Amino acid sequence: MLYGRDGELAAIDELLGRARAGRSGVLVLRGEAGIGKSALLDHAAGAADGMRVLRGTGFESESGMPYAGLHLLLGRHLDRIAGLPEGQAEALRAALNMGGPEAESDRFLVGLAVLTLLSDLAEERPLLCLVDDAHWIDGSSAEALLFAARRLDAEPIAIVFAARDADAPEPASPESAPPEFVAEGLPELRLHGLDGDAAAALLAERAPTCPAMSGGRSSPGRWATRWRCSNSRGAAGTGRPTSGSCGRSPSGSPRCRSRRGGSCCWWRWTTSATRAWW
Ligand SMILES: Nc1ncnc2c1ncn2[C@@H]1O[C@H](COP(=O)(O)OP(=O)(O)OP(=O)(O)O)[C@@H](O)[C@H]1O
Ligand SMILES: [Mg+2]
Repeated sequence: MLYGRDGELAAIDELLGRARAGRSGVLVLRGEAGIGKSALLDHAAGAADGMRVLRGTGFESESGMPYAGLHLLLGRHLDRIAGLPEGQAEALRAALNMGGPEAESDRFLVGLAVLTLLSDLAEERPLLCLVDDAHWIDGSSAEALLFAARRLDAEPIAIVFAARDADAPEPASPESAPPEFVAEGLPELRLHGLDGDAAAALLAERAPTCPAMSGGRSSPGRWATRWRCSNSRGAAGTGRPTSGSCGRSPSGSPRCRSRRGGSCCWWRWTTSATRAWW
């Protein structure tokens, strides 16, 4: 259940409806970590009745490997390369290291090949491509996918990218800020924070007995872009919680666990979807 995202869900459902009707569309979801980008992609995948769904994800460890992201996305359909026009097939094979030793990949032809391959797949049934963590997709794959996305026409294809904001508030350190996923010319949907009611409903569902809840529930307007942690005596601290500031609930349960294995809840109260680890 996704709380407080009616507008975003409607935008995705409309995109899928248009694709089923033979009108392509692209959407770039942007927002800070934990705000619900992947959850929206999951919704899209679940709502794609009758469509073929391709899912890909960017991985930081593969972000320096040319065409790793494309390889992951197209994975099960690489045999379709054989049906592409010769030049495109050659370029895509070379890009994916499936060509001979002399093979060279031409970036324009690779983009064109991706476009043709997606169109071919969509001829059989409408196609939905979901690309999560697009900020970590290697540059060559991103270039080819965006090239194709910009050239979709009257085809039953929908593409949704999800990427973190490069300027998200409070990155752990400047070095940990993700690279920017630049998608010029494509429609974007920026995810903003949940309102108090939606955030409270989310917490009530996910952690109904967690000690940190009481403060959140009783004062739903007090969302702050700070870390907040309640200890066993009900005291709450803001800033980065330390293990010393956390503990069991007064009754001894639940024993909420921190991400690093402590025995407390760590909540990141944000102006967004509240991200919780336990
Ligand atoms: N509106 C919401 N309603 C219910 N659950 C939500 C909502 N938004 C986010 N969540 C939940 O919060 C958690 C974090 O969301 P998600 O993984 O989608 O964030 P994200 O934006 O993809 O983060 P990241 O940039 O780290 O990948 C998930 O468990 C998700 O199901
Ligand atoms: Mg995600």
